[in-house]
Amino acid sequence: MNPANQVLLRVEKLTRRFGGLVAVNAVDLDLRLGEVHAVIGTNGAGKSTLINMLSGELAASEGRVALDGEDITTRAQFRRARAGIGRSYQRTTIFPEFSVLENCRLAAQAATPRAWALWEASAACGTSNGAAREALEAAGLSEMAGRIAGTLSHGAKRQLEVAMCLATRPRVLLLDEPLAGMGAEETERMLTLLARLKTSHAILLVEHDMDAVFRIADRITVMVNGTVIATGDPAAIRANPEVRTAYLGEGA
Ligand SMILES: Nc1ncnc2c1ncn2[C@@H]1O[C@H](COP(=O)(O)OP(=O)(O)OP(=O)(O)O)[C@@H](O)[C@H]1O
Ligand SMILES: [Mg+2]
Repeated sequence: MNPANQVLLRVEKLTRRFGGLVAVNAVDLDLRLGEVHAVIGTNGAGKSTLINMLSGELAASEGRVALDGEDITTRAQFRRARAGIGRSYQRTTIFPEFSVLENCRLAAQAATPRAWALWEASAACGTSNGAAREALEAAGLSEMAGRIAGTLSHGAKRQLEVAMCLATRPRVLLLDEPLAGMGAEETERMLTLLARLKTSHAILLVEHDMDAVFRIADRITVMVNGTVIATGDPAAIRANPEVRTAYLGEGA
């Protein structure tokens, strides 16, 4: 197989029920190295629930998740993080009073087995400092390392969240609406970052900004009421009559 298209995460018939509600219904999905795979769907379609099952925050009701061919369906969240699954959240999760670098260092430490290192002097945490600085560099935030996170612009905060995810040194990035609330310039910056990151990561992008999705995604999966109604490249999705009716609207 071409290593550039290596499947890192394989999802089979993944289902999550909340009482009588089937929030995610038998979803099949592949995340490949070198690809941005967008998951789109209206509010409540099950996108965040899907991410929560892949990151291990929510248990699956049925189905299977494999990382590099190994079944991780019942693996705890921290073990998945260590194995290379990183995520960002729909709602902001930064520590506003801490510096940008400190935020990344805490994220890096949380993903290491030495959780007690939180109480070490920051200078002693060589590994997490290194991971934090690398992540800031990768996210284009090095110059802001000393800034207090709460004082950043909205776009820079979202970029910091991607950096915090990178600080855990993941191979799979699960990004839940990283463009939400962004202006045009901030969106461009994030898209440039994602295009750069995809060469060395498999990226799942949940996003409502359709212009951005159709520009950046290599593949798009469309969910309606928990069920996948189509998966394909952007051209195929745009032309899919069922997608146009159910989601994009006839004018798309
Ligand atoms: N913990 C929960 N308990 C009960 N129902 C839940 C829970 N989490 C999500 N749901 C329900 O599952 C469905 C899918 O929710 P989810 O948050 O995954 O949608 P989404 O596609 O991420 O939507 P949005 O675009 O608004 O973020 C919704 O009907 C939601 O109300
Ligand atoms: Mg959501």
